[in-house]
Amino acid sequence: MAAHLGVNLAVAALLWLSCADALGQEYSAAAARHKLKAIRHLKRLNKPPVKTITSPDGDTIDCVHVSRQPAFDHPFLRNHTLQMRPTFFPEGIVNNVESHKKDHSMAQAWHQNGRCPEETVPIRRTKMGDVLRASSVKRYGKKKHRTVPMLVSFDPDLVNESGHQHAIAYVEGDKYYGAKTTINVWRPKIQQANEFSLSQLWILGGAFGDDLNSIEAGWQVSPELYGDNNTRLFTYWTSDAYQATGCYNLLCSGFIQVNNDIAMGASIYPLSNYHGSQYDISILVWKDPQEGHWWIQFGNDYVLGYWPSFLFSYLADSSSMIQWGGEVVNSQLEGEHTSTEMGSGHFPEEGFGKASYFRNIQIVDESNNLRTPMEVGTFTEEPSCYDIRNGNNDDWGHYIYYGGPGKNNNCP
Ligand SMILES: *[C@@H]1O[C@H](CO)[C@@H](O)[C@H](O)[C@H]1NC(C)=O
Ligand SMILES: *[C@@H]1O[C@H](CO)[C@@H](O)[C@H](O)[C@H]1NC(C)=O
Ligand SMILES: *[C@@H]1O[C@H](CO)[C@@H](O)[C@H](O)[C@H]1NC(C)=O
Repeated sequence: MAAHLGVNLAVAALLWLSCADALGQEYSAAAARHKLKAIRHLKRLNKPPVKTITSPDGDTIDCVHVSRQPAFDHPFLRNHTLQMRPTFFPEGIVNNVESHKKDHSMAQAWHQNGRCPEETVPIRRTKMGDVLRASSVKRYGKKKHRTVPMLVSFDPDLVNESGHQHAIAYVEGDKYYGAKTTINVWRPKIQQANEFSLSQLWILGGAFGDDLNSIEAGWQVSPELYGDNNTRLFTYWTSDAYQATGCYNLLCSGFIQVNNDIAMGASIYPLSNYHGSQYDISILVWKDPQEGHWWIQFGNDYVLGYWPSFLFSYLADSSSMIQWGGEVVNSQLEGEHTSTEMGSGHFPEEGFGKASYFRNIQIVDESNNLRTPMEVGTFTEEPSCYDIRNGNNDDWGHYIYYGGPGKNNNCP
């Protein structure tokens, strides 16, 4: 049946192409193959919805039954028993106990037009245009090779060569079982469609070789991935340094979503204003000490789902490094620096209300306790383009201000 459908799609695509040819437009064989692969990929990725919601930002959100989500295409997940809740939360989360009212301060654009029923998960539908913007169908939804987040132990020439720039805080030298932080949300300007700007945490395992494990979550602006400049909630995972495994959001099988309120990859609001109101989101990622899966919670209320521990090698045990901060792509490797912004687009020294921040930076330790890390390092490739500052106080615990405008007089 599936094969039969595939053939029909192929025929449809060829017919479409020959009609287009008749109209005198030019098509290369490569473009035709790309399109055909894209059609097949969409068929695999988009699962039949129970309900569909059209978001004011142009997205289509499909409410897919929880047992039909892309995760279950994974061969290892055929016999997996879906877990609707973690067996343990980290000790020291105050909010769960403290307040029973839901936190509605942060919402997603599609909420204006409806909600997904119980037992379903909201999935941002992938459209033809999304796949066609990618360099290849195979790379759609994946970070480009070698975009390893910074690194102390990594060859700095390679870091620079890739065009990725970071301003991050990190901890290393221990075993980590999770991390939590609160990030204010902005809409950084992106100079070119193939660049992006994101603010996230990284849970890393391994020594930055070809088998680097990473779990990532935060917000991003990525015209290539989403086709617009909206700020979106995202996750990422890989178990082989961004090569064959892993992807953004639910764009491959692996992550299991259990939440029916939040769609990964969907736009979030409100955004912070320069010299005005500040809005932030909290993200907690932790390893369930009983089952071993890595769970993610968004805000105080939304347990989104989990990455099963067997997706990983190093992270099946624990994380060896955690990072918090921003990353942009500078696609102008020669000549002028990009003017793509990181965070608010302003430097850390401007402080609260102007610069972007991560506050209450915490890690989960071996005893499943959330705590403030002792020593936090910082790193940035070119501080005159994007910079970072560490700080500590009673309210915010450990925090950073980070970001910058990219191109400016000191970063030509
Ligand atoms: C799933 O369970 C069936 C029946 O118990 C078994 O034959 C099969 O090998 C299992 N598959 C995986 C991937 O574990
Ligand atoms: C995104 O912003 C850039 C300028 O920052 C603009 O050139 C581009 O048209 C915008 N893209 C979309 C899809 O709105
Ligand atoms: C990256 O390149 C810039 C400019 O070429 C240089 O100033 C900076 O030191 C390099 N950073 C690292 C970490 O090598």
